[in-house]
Amino acid sequence: MRIEQLEPAVLEETQRVASELFPWEDEHRMALRAALFPEAHTGFLRARRLNAARFWVAHYEGRVAGLASLYDYVGMPSDAWLSWYGLLPVARGRGNGGRLLDWVIKTARSEGRTVLRLWTTVEDEYRLAIRLYEKRGFTAEEYPPLPGETWRTIVMSLGLTGATPIPWLSVVDRPWLCGRVAPPVAAKVA
Ligand SMILES: CC(C)(COP(=O)(O)OP(=O)(O)OC[C@H]1O[C@@H](n2cnc3c(N)ncnc32)[C@H](O)[C@@H]1OP(=O)(O)O)[C@@H](O)C(=O)NCCC(=O)NCCS
Repeated sequence: MRIEQLEPAVLEETQRVASELFPWEDEHRMALRAALFPEAHTGFLRARRLNAARFWVAHYEGRVAGLASLYDYVGMPSDAWLSWYGLLPVARGRGNGGRLLDWVIKTARSEGRTVLRLWTTVEDEYRLAIRLYEKRGFTAEEYPPLPGETWRTIVMSLGLTGATPIPWLSVVDRPWLCGRVAPPVAAKVA
């Protein structure tokens, strides 16, 4: 597996992979484009209170097989948020997921971030990912359910400098949950 920064040449292929991995979500569409062409997506970035969204692509057997993103929030230079992390089934189960996660952790640490966070939901499809996050030392906080949702949302945080991270729910004036859009009605059947 080779990990590379997102380039325009693989945007469409990466978009297809993101849609396959996260069919319930739509935000990755705009986020991928905002990563490549931020000046054309200032509205998206401003609405999410983001300085930037950055993506990396996992190449496996000659094709795009996965992705991972870091969201950088305005006014929160020490935090980075892992988003849109996943691999197609063809690339899974060989340590690639762990390698991609380790690569993101290393990148955030090398940039001087003190905490890496993510949100996910407690559902069968994310069970492996949650176990992997826990193995890497992420700790979980339960987030109040979004309107119209019945499944549990958790925010997971990893201290990158040896210190225990401030719980996300204790952060004053925190932005909306990592750009997550609250569904007006239940987005899927739990
Ligand atoms: C999470 C994901 C990236 C992991 O990728 P992967 O390539 O399977 O990960 P790895 O091969 O590195 O395995 C990670 C751990 O899970 C274990 N594992 C992998 N497949 C397993 C399986 N089918 N059953 C039980 N354990 C399994 C591995 O043994 C490894 O544990 P270890 O570190 O103790 O050895 C991948 O499952 C995925 O893309 N899932 C869908 C998208 C997703 O859930 N994204 C996260 C959203 S929050």
